[in-house]
Amino acid sequence: LLLDVDTGIDDSLALLYACASDDAELVAVTCVSGNVALPDVERSTRAVLELAGRSDVEVALGRPVPLVRPLDIAPETHGPQGIGYAQLPQPRTPASTRFGPDLIVEEARRRPGEITLVTLGPVTNLALAVLREPGLPRLLRRWVLMGGAYRTPGNTSPTTEWNVHCDPEALKVCLAAWSAAGIVGDVPRPLALGLDVTERAKLTPEHLMALARRAGSEPDASRDESAGSVARNPVVRYLADALRFYMEFHSRFDGFYGAFIHDPLAVAAALDPGLVRTEALAVDVELGGTLTTGQTVADWRRHWNRPPNVDVAVEADSDRFLERFVERVGGLAAARADVAI
Ligand code: BDR
Ligand code: CA
Repeated sequence: LLLDVDTGIDDSLALLYACASDDAELVAVTCVSGNVALPDVERSTRAVLELAGRSDVEVALGRPVPLVRPLDIAPETHGPQGIGYAQLPQPRTPASTRFGPDLIVEEARRRPGEITLVTLGPVTNLALAVLREPGLPRLLRRWVLMGGAYRTPGNTSPTTEWNVHCDPEALKVCLAAWSAAGIVGDVPRPLALGLDVTERAKLTPEHLMALARRAGSEPDASRDESAGSVARNPVVRYLADALRFYMEFHSRFDGFYGAFIHDPLAVAAALDPGLVRTEALAVDVELGGTLTTGQTVADWRRHWNRPPNVDVAVEADSDRFLERFVERVGGLAAARADVAI
């Protein structure tokens, strides 16, 4: 797996899920601005990997702004540094000297056909990578993206999902590159997990309690943790503090005390595509709308007569995913119980 992130609370959970997955080799992580600005994304990404005991994973900075639009960030959703109320020590390992998009190209060339790239933020870095190496779709095993809202309302504007909203031109570039490569060779279509499925992945306080239990960190429900988690396990403490912020946000804007964990579902589906049911569709992105710029438009009724270019996830086995999330990240937390952080 190669992850491209805009960490982000749910990105950080996706990083932990990848680190906790024996069926994944985490090759590297590239950072893009999105939920917060690039320096915060990079710092939090390295800090979370260190929390997971994976300071060996290379973390590279990508482009600090979208291709053509001004940068928009969402600290009200993810906290000032992208990790909610959590505080992690300054990471000890330095960031890579490679530029994120170059890293994507170089790793794909080094291991042709092996790497699944999962983009969890705006696809700015991938657009730069594919402009540099148009053969990238053939060099990757697959591209899996968290992005778009296909048959469901947006979470950023009435019709747009955050990752695509931030850099729709980048998505246009990537879709064009994949379509062009698909005509020439046998390239798998990108797998897109939009809000249609990721908003089914609802993590609740009960899941968090189960995860703490799996980690051997028995939660004490009578304790007031509103000023910060008192859990001794550093991973459980991190999750409690990051998720308290995210759950408060969802309770204000989405009507439930819990959190959509979009990005971990994308990583889980990249590792096990059986978690989602997909439909092959012609998909494009609106760039010049007066109300809808950034909308992912899917041709459900084949009006365009274009070949399908994206496998859009239309259903997800969210119960199985959430169980797996609790089991894997809880297992990682158990292994990190005695680490002083
Ligand atoms: C996406 O936007 C970000 O806020 C999340 O990290 C996720 O990648 C959901 O729309
Ligand atoms: Ca994200």
